[in-house]
Amino acid sequence: MRLRATLSAGLVAVAALAIGGSAPALAGQAPRPPQAQTLKALAERHKLAVGTAIDVAALADPSYRRIAATEFSTVTAENVMKWETLEPVRGQYDWTQAEQFMAFAAVNHQRVRGHVLVWSNQLPAWLTEGVADGSITRAELRGLLRNHIHNVVSHFKGRVWQWDVVNEAVTDSWDSTGGQIGYKGFWATNLGPGYIADSFRWAREADPKALLFYNDYNIDAFGDGGPLDKTQFVYDMVRDLRRARVPIDGVGSQAHLSTRYGNYSAFQIADMLNRFARLGVATALTEVDVRNLLPEVQTGDTINPLLQAQAYDYGALMQGCLASRHCISYTVWGFDDGHSWTNTWDFGDGPGREAMAAIYDAQYQPKHAYRAIQADLAFAGPPLVQPRLPQRPHR
Ligand code: G3I
Repeated sequence: MRLRATLSAGLVAVAALAIGGSAPALAGQAPRPPQAQTLKALAERHKLAVGTAIDVAALADPSYRRIAATEFSTVTAENVMKWETLEPVRGQYDWTQAEQFMAFAAVNHQRVRGHVLVWSNQLPAWLTEGVADGSITRAELRGLLRNHIHNVVSHFKGRVWQWDVVNEAVTDSWDSTGGQIGYKGFWATNLGPGYIADSFRWAREADPKALLFYNDYNIDAFGDGGPLDKTQFVYDMVRDLRRARVPIDGVGSQAHLSTRYGNYSAFQIADMLNRFARLGVATALTEVDVRNLLPEVQTGDTINPLLQAQAYDYGALMQGCLASRHCISYTVWGFDDGHSWTNTWDFGDGPGREAMAAIYDAQYQPKHAYRAIQADLAFAGPPLVQPRLPQRPHR
């Protein structure tokens, strides 16, 4: 923290030159200072992809579209690659919105994180109602899942860098039974946990090159390693999948944080990422945002401390990722407060009571959080921060 303070404005230009944080200047032109460079450009030096979730409808807004196109080297579809949108009617796929998203990524040379093949939420009604009324049997359900993975992955084959194959498949300490973390959700209930290994094998059959990820929240750091430590459970699950030679290539930590909780240091986050990496998988921070419990009275005195705490959390995640060479991407779950899912979500205190979660405000002005990760990308370097190590897909 002190380092950042001493390198304030006066020294930035010199520092930029010193650490080579600046993009190569055109002949005769002074290199642009880091604060004038995009996250994408600054992250390139670390071979790190910096990304955002894209709300396809918001691309109609020129300001949204400009920032989404210029600041990020990877994008994730916030909703339009989910099952309910891709196959609203059984057997009839509708790729329209997903292809709009893919076209945006292609034009801007952005790598795509595919989200999401297997999750308990946002499933089409024909599927959940068929299972509920028994018209879809267990064997049929397994076949439908295999077909969905084959259909979607082969449709986007060669155009998706990372797939979230399975998402949010395990419990948390507060919704666990028998005092230990376990499997949860529609698929575990109807097919048993074996669907996880099957899903990775089916995805690999359809695309030999895409990196296949398990993605979850509340796995930002290890706890006590005991039966209610969700990160430890996911670690053991991935270890066992690797031992069974299941083609899992990565673990995504969503990192949905809130400034009302203690959260983590960069050291704790780097430790989590490095321990997963030692299992032979890559890691990624996949859905980063840091929401705030909005004060009754919003003044500078009540809001500014939140914005600075928020910046610390975004920065700790970025520093932790930079410190782990197998952490290959850092994606925010929406970049502006105006389009954040937190604006309508109820975290327990009522819809939208915890919000202001993004790195830009609702007028697309960069917040402390943006400046924090911009500075981390600009000032980081050897010996502790080295370029990313590429992950090869497991067969
Ligand atoms: O499409 C309908 C629209 O027709 C209808 O008029 C409108 C009004 O209700 O709802 C629209 O659907 C909404 C959908 O987003 C598309 O905007 C759903 O109500 C709303 O629940 C859904 O929320 C998404 C949420 O996943 C659903 O679980 C959020 O945008 C999205 O940010 C969020 O993302 C998840 C990740 O996929 C997985 N990890 C957690 C993350 C945050 O919950």
